Amino acid sequence: MKYVIKRALTMLRRDTKKGLSPRALLRRAARYSYEIGGAQLWLRDVNELGRGVRCYHKPRVVNDGTMRIGRNSLLRSILVPIELTCAEGALLEIGEDCFINYGVSIGCTKHISIGDRCRIGPYTMIIDTPFHDVYDRLKRPEGQSTIIETDVWIGAKVSIMPGVTIGHGSVVGTGAVVTKDVPAYSVVGGVPAKIIDTLDPDKFVMPPGFSPNRDLR
Ligand SMILES: CC(C)(COP(=O)(O)OP(=O)(O)OC[C@H]1O[C@@H](n2cnc3c(N)ncnc32)[C@H](O)[C@@H]1OP(=O)(O)O)[C@@H](O)C(=O)NCCC(=O)NCCS
Repeated sequence: MKYVIKRALTMLRRDTKKGLSPRALLRRAARYSYEIGGAQLWLRDVNELGRGVRCYHKPRVVNDGTMRIGRNSLLRSILVPIELTCAEGALLEIGEDCFINYGVSIGCTKHISIGDRCRIGPYTMIIDTPFHDVYDRLKRPEGQSTIIETDVWIGAKVSIMPGVTIGHGSVVGTGAVVTKDVPAYSVVGGVPAKIIDTLDPDKFVMPPGFSPNRDLR
């Protein structure tokens, strides 16, 4: 409880500088306490939970392996819960300052890694095995590492298929099915996903110490 109050107060101290009304501040205080307390409760089966992780409403977590979530990440299960599953012996890593939106489903049977500052849109699915062999539907093919590097923005209703690596800074457009590796700083879209643009690394707006989810460092 002490932890929740301390964290919520740290975030509010920052908000007071924004000139919000007392009523808005009060509402935020209640929300922060709920999110910070919620993360402690609902992510209790996560093996390593970074400081300042928040949950807006309850996600579904089934962890028989190892799960790590980096500091200041926000899991937003508004409307539909986020689903995180990790099989025995598998490793699911979510970096710092990530934002995961409602309905996202991550099914990890071997290794899934999501880098720092990634943003994942609603109803996206990330898997490291197809779960069924095409001829023997009772057989689960062995998992392959699915890697999402840092600063990747994944739009809504995307499918990230097993064994794929999405390079740093890339964008995956709404509705894409990513079946092959995506080079860094690419914008991809479509089914199967193809490169539709390449981003200029010098144009990124990323001040030092930047955190999209209100840094608590
Ligand atoms: C991929 C995306 C970032 C591209 O945005 P943009 O740079 O403004 O691109 P434009 O709309 O100018 O489109 C450029 C081209 O890409 C195509 N394109 C855009 N989005 C696409 C998508 N999701 N899938 C396939 N092709 C797409 C356009 O048809 C266009 O093709 P053309 O040049 O042949 O006409 C954007 O369309 C997108 O999907 N954003 C994600 C939004 C989202 O899901 N938000 C949820 C909350 S996280």
